[in-house]
Amino acid sequence: MEIRLCDNIVRFRKSKGYTQEELAKKLNISSQAVSKWENAQSLPDIALLPALAGILETDIDTLMGYIPKKKMVTPYEDRYNAKEYYWGTMPNEMCMEVLRRYYPTRPLRLLEVGCGEGKDAVFFARNGYQVTAFDVTESGIEKARRLADIHQADIDFFRADLRDFRLDEDFDIIYSSGVFHHILPELRDEIMENYRSHTASGGMHAVNVFVEKPFIPEPPDSDLCSRNWASGELFTCYKDWMIEECREVIFDCNSSGIPHKHCMDTVFARKMPDRKGE
Ligand SMILES: C[S@@+](CC[C@H](N)C(=O)[O-])C[C@H]1O[C@@H](n2cnc3c(N)ncnc32)[C@H](O)[C@@H]1O
Repeated sequence: MEIRLCDNIVRFRKSKGYTQEELAKKLNISSQAVSKWENAQSLPDIALLPALAGILETDIDTLMGYIPKKKMVTPYEDRYNAKEYYWGTMPNEMCMEVLRRYYPTRPLRLLEVGCGEGKDAVFFARNGYQVTAFDVTESGIEKARRLADIHQADIDFFRADLRDFRLDEDFDIIYSSGVFHHILPELRDEIMENYRSHTASGGMHAVNVFVEKPFIPEPPDSDLCSRNWASGELFTCYKDWMIEECREVIFDCNSSGIPHKHCMDTVFARKMPDRKGE
């Protein structure tokens, strides 16, 4: 899967509220040139990139979908550098539920968002799914590849930041555990819509998110660039889908060596064919 400059130009331009003409004017070029970039018919001249990134209030790396090798987006980069697997190598309980609800009797394309060190992706691949998985950490992806090699699991792992990355192909299943609190609230509608629209008809989302509860203290290993979801917020993303199951659970965790609690919302939702007008 590649991150496409053309999609990023469209997305950042629209988020700034510029038309193609307005962007072209600011760059002193023709609107046809902008249209060609956005339709992947040509690439911007390299000399224009600093101005383009500046006008779109981003940086060249983000625009190109490139994460510099040394850039640390999350503390997990360091945590995954240890020899041991931070989350162990046993799959999350949710994986069994996916298997039960949408068994791969035919090749099913599954995307894992924020795969960490790869335990769940490897489980899915070993059980017959065609797995694509990404995480922002280089250390996590390296370990995930190693785990996949040990189990001879063929998985398309890559490094991407979910805040900048958008899907341009469809999946039968989108799975993510403990990751979507890294999508800041202002990006949630857009990213969830991208994931929903790139889900095949009959496809499934199996997702959980950490949620805010006033009576649960901040966990000791919480990440500054994350924001818990509101209780129930995740379920509203699937109001047009069939919600097979949704639940909210408070559980104990020891991830940093200090016992603490989390509250988590989980949903299994199905994209049903649209029958309106039949
Ligand atoms: C709580 S861990 C869960 C990991 C994995 N899903 C699991 O259950 O083992 C959160 C994961 O989100 C990843 N992450 C954090 N910020 C991210 C971002 N902006 N883009 C992609 N992944 C991110 C972290 O690297 C980490 O692997």
